[in-house]
Amino acid sequence: MKTANRLAKIPPYLFMELRNKIAKARAAGVDVISLAIGDPVEPTPHEIVEELARAARDPENHRYPTDEEKGMLAFRNAVAAWYARRYGVEVDPASEIIALIGSKEGCHHFVLARVNPGETVLMTDPGYPAYRASILMAEGEPVSVPIRPENGYLPVLRDIPSELAKRATAMFLNYPNNPTGATATPQFLRELVEFARTHDIAVCYDNPYIDVVFGGEKPLSFLSVPGAKEVGVELNSLSKPFNMTGWRIGMALGNRDLIAAISKVKENTDSGIFNAIQYAGIAALSRCEESIPHMLHIYERRRNLVLATLKQVGIDYEPVKGTFYLWVPVPTGMSSLEFTNLLFENAHVVVAAGRGYGENGEGFVRFSLTVPDKRLEEAMERIRRALA
Ligand SMILES: Cc1ncc(COP(=O)(O)O)c(C=O)c1O
Repeated sequence: MKTANRLAKIPPYLFMELRNKIAKARAAGVDVISLAIGDPVEPTPHEIVEELARAARDPENHRYPTDEEKGMLAFRNAVAAWYARRYGVEVDPASEIIALIGSKEGCHHFVLARVNPGETVLMTDPGYPAYRASILMAEGEPVSVPIRPENGYLPVLRDIPSELAKRATAMFLNYPNNPTGATATPQFLRELVEFARTHDIAVCYDNPYIDVVFGGEKPLSFLSVPGAKEVGVELNSLSKPFNMTGWRIGMALGNRDLIAAISKVKENTDSGIFNAIQYAGIAALSRCEESIPHMLHIYERRRNLVLATLKQVGIDYEPVKGTFYLWVPVPTGMSSLEFTNLLFENAHVVVAAGRGYGENGEGFVRFSLTVPDKRLEEAMERIRRALA
């Protein structure tokens, strides 16, 4: 069967390739430890699971969740209260919030809502691979903006050629950043708003790691800077703070025209999120905030273990302050793929090669801290032995 041309432009999804590689080795009896994927292993807090069970038993929730196509108002109210309480941001639940099936879905619908075929969309390189795929599926033209360690992995907006900035209709950004772990500053966000306003660029500020920050860093919402709502939306998700990656629930907030447009796309695509999951989301946002410091404590311990191990094998660097990933420079003279292969062959440990996140990801690999402590300890022991 011949399939659509637009799909041919999309490279195979990075994690699918990794999953296949791991599955093959495991099938051959190898005890592989994967530090490649960011998927928390701790369970979703009990109270959230209980709320899902309660709501799932209620036949009222068994029908289409389309009464309010932006998601249940009660869910949007909980999101608004969360944003006011945690990030100091006021958002109108009626017009400035929409529930999503995860922020990944939001990326896709954002492009469909804003970008016409052939239009240019800026995205950082390295960057989350799903942005490119979403842009290509909407037949936009992805253009990479490099982010480099010497600039704290923030794009230097004034270096974007003005012809390119004029041509672009949208831009994806994500801080705390996957894959580098970098965080943004209020000053950078103010510059971003100015840049977007000058060039009429709609910003998709993908922020699912907003609460995963260390070393006294404060969670920072794009919407906390003046003017942000005029130029874009922020995506957020319950996946990471509440260990809910499998549940598929998140939200977009901000510019009301974009929210209305995303709502139109969703109405005609998926008919919304199972109400019982939205009730569970309300429980998470209104009663389970303590899950965040609890998880941060776990990640910090793991982060320190990996950094100490890397130091022992001669990889010593200054880590940045966000996400549950470590963006680790590879030993001199090796490519990211060569180093990944070396760890796989000699330690049976899988990490993600930086090259998979874009040209500028070369020279780095990404370690994820979302594995049980015992497995991480075992992985570090193997790395110590392999690289001694
Ligand atoms: C930058 C970024 N955006 C979005 C997502 C997807 O999150 P969700 O589970 O909310 O779809 C991820 C997941 O790893 C991510 O790293």
